[in-house]
Amino acid sequence: MTSSAHRFGIETPKLDLTHRPRRNRKSDWARRLVRENVVTTNDLIWPVFVIDGEKRRQPVSAMPGVERFSVDELVRAVVHAAKLEIPAIALFPNTDPKLRDASGSEALREHNLIATACRAIKKEVPNIGIITDVALDPYTSHGHDGVMHGEEILNDETVAILVAQALNQARAGADVIAPSDMMDGRVAAIRAGLDSEGFESVQIMAYAAKYASAFYGPFREAVGTSATLVGDKRTYQMDPGNSDEALREVAADLDEGADMVMVKPGMPYLDIVRRVKETFSVPTFAYQVSGEYAMIMAAAQNGWIDGDKAILESLTAFKRAGCNGVLTYFAVQIAEKLQKGL
Ligand code: PBG
Repeated sequence: MTSSAHRFGIETPKLDLTHRPRRNRKSDWARRLVRENVVTTNDLIWPVFVIDGEKRRQPVSAMPGVERFSVDELVRAVVHAAKLEIPAIALFPNTDPKLRDASGSEALREHNLIATACRAIKKEVPNIGIITDVALDPYTSHGHDGVMHGEEILNDETVAILVAQALNQARAGADVIAPSDMMDGRVAAIRAGLDSEGFESVQIMAYAAKYASAFYGPFREAVGTSATLVGDKRTYQMDPGNSDEALREVAADLDEGADMVMVKPGMPYLDIVRRVKETFSVPTFAYQVSGEYAMIMAAAQNGWIDGDKAILESLTAFKRAGCNGVLTYFAVQIAEKLQKGL
């Protein structure tokens, strides 16, 4: 045996190690054998943006690689996602500015963009789960998730509208209602509303711990609220400094009947995911939001990081933190890779 001491001319002490953790890392097969967390296609939820018209695909400039789809193009994209066995998609509308008003009334219209998209997808791709967003921001002229009186976002009045919005989505075939508005008491009200119309089996995925975050910027471009939003959302979304409060929010949503809970944003909030999972042991999701997507893509496009590796590592981190699944704009790209065995 040539000793390293000889090779480098430095005397090496004889280490008497019981544990050499490197043994389990010595080869690919050994690493695969001891791996604790892996990302599979079953972990992916694909958020998509819908626009009106036909045969339209529109890029989102702050999210290179992400496009907004008209309903016909969306159906095509969802057929592809279903073939890849992505379990579910999450729909977000970019509503015509002319249809936005102070109370977000377009959210309740029977044949609005989201309802039309739900019906079309249900007809053509019955085996993919459809998650619809409950909140008024893509429909209000002021860009807030609720209705306003002066500067104030009204809670209880908003909840009444959100129930009607959720019912409109359930009637159009939504499988999972996902309230992202952060009004108090909305999960209970939506659950009661759904049950009263016979939608007992429609699930609720609550954006339970949703923070007032700067990482939503590109999403607001995508749904056209960066232009409309007046002020910020700090009177209803959570303060990024808080962690115990997230547990109270999750506890409340579970008490009110949420089937699954979500933490949002994702990567900067993995500590919250871990606490939620350990405290409640319920299906827990995180949203790798638009700003996280933009950061990874920007660095990758500049050649500063290896994009594919960084994406997979980020998704693995969500699993390690305790997520059952992740809403990610990378869903299709990763599912394609996983199908090819990476
Ligand atoms: C709004 C909503 C937001 C996102 C999902 N639903 C933004 C916001 O609260 O302003 C952000 C998603 C993302 O950034 O990818 N109800």
